[in-house]
Formats: sequence, structure tokens, C-alpha cells
Amino acid sequence: MSTSVDEFVYDPFGKEEMRNPLPFYEILREHHPVYYLENYDTFVLSRFQDAWDFLDIADNVFVTNEGSVFMRADLLKHNNGATADPPTAPFLGTHLAYGAPVYEQIRQAHSKGLRPGAVRKLEPFIRDLVRDRLDRLLPRGRFDLVHEFGGIISVSTICHLFHIPLEQASELLDTINAVTATDEEGHGFARDPDMQKKMLGFIRPLVTERRAQGHDGSWNLVDGMLDLRLDGRELSDLEIAANLTCVLVGGTETLPKVIGHGLWELARHPDQLADVRADLEVNAAAAVEEMLRYCGPAQWFGRTARVETEIAGQVIRPGQRVIYLTQSANRDPREFRNADTFIWNRDIPRTLAFGRGQHFCVGIHLARLEAKVIVQEFLSRVGEYQIDTTGAVRSPSSFQWGYSHLPVEVGAVNG
Ligand code: HEM
Repeated sequence: MSTSVDEFVYDPFGKEEMRNPLPFYEILREHHPVYYLENYDTFVLSRFQDAWDFLDIADNVFVTNEGSVFMRADLLKHNNGATADPPTAPFLGTHLAYGAPVYEQIRQAHSKGLRPGAVRKLEPFIRDLVRDRLDRLLPRGRFDLVHEFGGIISVSTICHLFHIPLEQASELLDTINAVTATDEEGHGFARDPDMQKKMLGFIRPLVTERRAQGHDGSWNLVDGMLDLRLDGRELSDLEIAANLTCVLVGGTETLPKVIGHGLWELARHPDQLADVRADLEVNAAAAVEEMLRYCGPAQWFGRTARVETEIAGQVIRPGQRVIYLTQSANRDPREFRNADTFIWNRDIPRTLAFGRGQHFCVGIHLARLEAKVIVQEFLSRVGEYQIDTTGAVRSPSSFQWGYSHLPVEVGAVNG
């Protein structure tokens, strides 16, 4: 990377950026807060406040009909004006691609079970799950904090929500990890038809079975979609399954990376670890907020402009894209003091860890609950622990740059 401001070049799919984007973010925030990527006809926002204001803009001014996670090949094609939403018939694609009001109708139809009251009821299930996992892993003395611990817990919780048998949890986790992986060139596999078919295979038969057996509204995720009428028609099993895969993936992939990395940060700061342990009941939730700020793997999300508008002094024309850099915003010193340092109990008056506005993370309450329970149970059972840094894996990625493997060695175990 050139450190000269004039020669500075940033490309989210660049090899160096995908290995470690953090030094780039520092320069972007300082010198190019609205950076234009000419080859992608895309603007990049790196400051917290700009991302915050951008996500506040409603009324379909920015849309996601090109997706919110772009592939490099998509960006190389420039738009000649506003892009159209896909048709809703004869086949409804994923609701994430539609503007209001279609997006909201579908989100509301399946998300009741993710609201605070419903999520609170999941706590005993999640706590038992974490305890059971620790019972199995701790006697080994060494295991993978991300994959074998957090990963199995998040995917098992998702299996519970989807009524997928827990015996399939491991296979589902591997499938999701494969779908969300990108290679060193930034190519992803999310649109690979075989991968999509495999993922749909976990949900579609359950929807078919539910429809055949009759539904009573008690299974929020699926029943709400069976009841939904869009332009007067009901959705097919395939349409329902395709619309629910975002919960399957979102609910599985991020949390283990945040928690694995976060527990590592605590191990690296023994004074902070001791503070958190002093009252796990109270302190775990605060430590989790800092983990969400500091350890989030998703680097950016994008939107496409539908109408001309101005962001941070820059005019954006219809068809141009804007991406906001979540991890740059989370380390913006204008928002957070000592932003590059992990401080478990820092003041976090507002967060972008779960996005904001229309596409605000639907799983926020579940994610916070799972993370809190994992931290509480892990730290109450495990005495000393350390990460074997030689086995830590953080593969280059444009989008999901997080630790996928963190071997942990545990010492004394309580109980
Ligand atoms: C630590 C865990 C998590 C983090 C940090 C996280 C973060 C995010 C962020 C930043 C977005 C906004 C994307 C955008 O602006 O386009 C998002 C969207 C989403 N999240 Fe999460 N998430 C987490 C866990 C979950 C869980 C547990 C679920 C499901 C149970 C979930 C489901 C979703 C879905 C479906 C979306 C897409 C919403 C949309 O685009 O309309 N996430 N998440």
C-alpha cells in the first residue's frame, strides 16, 4: 500500500485489502471519507457518522435489487440509470432484493419469532445447548473455539428455529460456511446453483410437510409465510424456502467469529478478563457489545441509488452504488475513543454492528442473547485458556474477514 495520500488506492477486492483492510480504513477515514471506485462506479463511506446518516435514508432512495453484498463481477458492470426490482411473479426471489413495501411485508411475515419476547423464551434452550457443548469439549483440553464451539451453538439454535433435526447441525454449518466463503480473487459461491440447492434442501421439505399437515401460527418462521398473500397469491414451498435462507445463513455465520475473536481479546487482556469474570451476570452483556464493535467479520454492505441524492457532500446518481465499511465505522476515532483498542466496558452509545434502517439485522436480539450466554457459560466453566495462534485462521476475504478457526487450550475447568 502506498502511504502517499495522492497515490493511495483502495479496492475492496484487492489482494492486500483482503488480507488486512484495517490500514486502508485509517487512510480512507482520514483523507478520503467518500472514496470513489471508478472501475466499479461505487462510492465508499468509511466514517461512522456518514454510514449512520446514509442508512437513515428511507423511501427507496437506495435499494438492494443488486444485493447488499456485491461480487466483483457485478460491480464491473456499470448501470445506466436506476435498476429495477425483480418481478414478484411468477417467482418471488429473496425479499432482500425488493424495496418497500414488498420487503417489509415478507420480513414481517416470518420474523415474529425473532422479536425480544419470543427470543427471551429461548434462553433456557440456548443455555442447555452451551453447557452440553462445553461438557463434550472441555475434557479434550483443546478445541476450535469458532467452529466446534460457537459455530455448533449458533447453527443448532437455527436448527431449533427451523425444526431441522440437530443431527444435521454439523452438515448445515459446513454447507453455510462453504456458501459464504470467497476465494483469494474475491469470487464467492453464494450463487452456485448446487450450493443453493443444497441449502434449500434443509428447509423446503419442512415447508412442504407443514403445509400438508396444516399450520396454526405457532411456528412463526414458516406459518407466517404460509399465511402471506402477495398480490393475492400464496407463495410456493420453494419461494418460502428461498426467502428463509437469509435467516439460516445470517443466524449461523457471524456470531461464532465475533465470540471466538472476542474471547481471544479477553485472554490477551488478563486485567479485562478478571473484570468481566468479577460479575458475569452483569458484565457479559457489556463485553459482548465491545466484541460486536471490535470483532465483527463483515466488512461492508452496499446499496444502489434509485434517485439522485447527496451523501456527505457527494452527489450520487441513479444506478451508482454506495458501500459502507462497517469495520471502519466501528473503529472511527470520531465516534470511539482509543478506537483501535479492545475495552470491554467502553461507552457505546450507538452501534452499527447490526446495521441500521430498513435492512437492520433481524436477528439482533437472538445474537445478543446467544453471545451473552456463551460468554457467561464459557468463562464460568473455564479457568485459564489460551489461543494457539499458530492455528488461527483468518482467510483473505473482501466481505467476511473474520477468524474461521481459533484453537483454544483450556487449563483448569470449574465443575
Ligand atoms: C453477532 C451476530 C450478528 C451480526 C454482527 C449481524 C450483523 C448484521 C448486519 C450488519 C446486517 C445488516 C446488513 C445490511 O446493512 O445490509 C444484518 C442483516 C441481517 N441479519 Fe444479522 N447479524 C448477526 C446475527 C444474526 C442472526 C442470529 C440472525 C438470524 C437469526 C441474523 C439475520 C440477519 C438477516 C436475515 C439480515 C438481512 C436483513 C436484510 O438485509 O434485510 N443475523 N446482520
